[in-house]
Amino acid sequence: MTDNVTIQAALDALAAGRATARLEDGRASIVLDVTGLGEAARAELEADVRRAASGVDGVSEVRVLLTSERRTRRLIAVASGKGGVGKSTIAANLAIALKQGGRKVGLVDADIYGPSQPRLLGVEGVRPKAREKTLLPVETPYGVPLLSMGGLVAEGQAIAWRGPMAGGALGQLVDGDWGACDTLVLDLPPGTGDVQLTMIQKHKPAGAVIVSTPQDLALIDATRAIDLFRKAGIPIIGLIENMSGYACPHCGEVSDPFGKGGAEAAAAALEIPFLGRVPLEMAIRAASDAGTPPAAGNGPEAQVFADLAGKVGDWLRTL
Ligand SMILES: Nc1ncnc2c1ncn2[C@@H]1O[C@H](COP(=O)(O)OP(=O)(O)O)[C@@H](O)[C@H]1O
Ligand SMILES: [Mg+2]
Repeated sequence: MTDNVTIQAALDALAAGRATARLEDGRASIVLDVTGLGEAARAELEADVRRAASGVDGVSEVRVLLTSERRTRRLIAVASGKGGVGKSTIAANLAIALKQGGRKVGLVDADIYGPSQPRLLGVEGVRPKAREKTLLPVETPYGVPLLSMGGLVAEGQAIAWRGPMAGGALGQLVDGDWGACDTLVLDLPPGTGDVQLTMIQKHKPAGAVIVSTPQDLALIDATRAIDLFRKAGIPIIGLIENMSGYACPHCGEVSDPFGKGGAEAAAAALEIPFLGRVPLEMAIRAASDAGTPPAAGNGPEAQVFADLAGKVGDWLRTL
């Protein structure tokens, strides 16, 4: 019925995925899911929904039924000992691949030094809106909503973050209105300092994925990252080796500029699972720069990320 469609569209614009409307004899019955929202945010959303429904032609009465579920939302931290190893690239594509595997996934970009998720997910320059004090994640073309530290500061603004400050800002992102999301992938700042420790202690991720390149130095840094999580009592889901082997775009020959097998051996020595390798490929860098993550495409890289997400998903099911 056209009226149902009109009223539903009005509510979707306002409370996507939370409100379901039915119109009968001028009476609109709306079921509003307020899971995860605080008192004030609930009241405000309900008022907004009422107002929008009353404004639809032919509506004479509005009834709103609030529902709420207890939901466990798990945080998966993606971390690395140093920058430039592809942590953000892995976090974005892992989130998309987990979503394709049937989870409801959101992405939190906690990298205060260089928030890169808005660019990776093709929503650069889109700032999150807020309802009262609750941030509303930015919808991305890949079905993975995003909140980024980048959205909290003006573009190009340099800030000297202290650990507790960064931990507080992260709280705003983690406590955003994530709706039905059951899993949040957290792109942590690189390194193993005070900022990272505060973030981890405060938000207790369910587990951590460590990203490293095959280079020795990167692996030493990865070991420090692993220690940091161990100290905080956070389980390590496993190690991903990124930029593993280079496939020449001209002849297809695979070479290993940073050596081979180092990460897998290191994982064995550290007694953590090895989740797999992501090759160093022009296509990955190009797609990432263009805001079209390879996991959302249909190239061979998509399968690489699907396999990684499969392992992370298996791990999540053991909790
Ligand atoms: N497997 C890969 N193949 C090719 N380029 C990659 C790969 N992983 C990451 N990159 C590129 O390397 C650069 C750094 O990656 P990024 O994810 O930003 O690292 P980090 O978050 O660890 O600093 C980016 O330009 C990215 O596109
Ligand atoms: Mg990064």
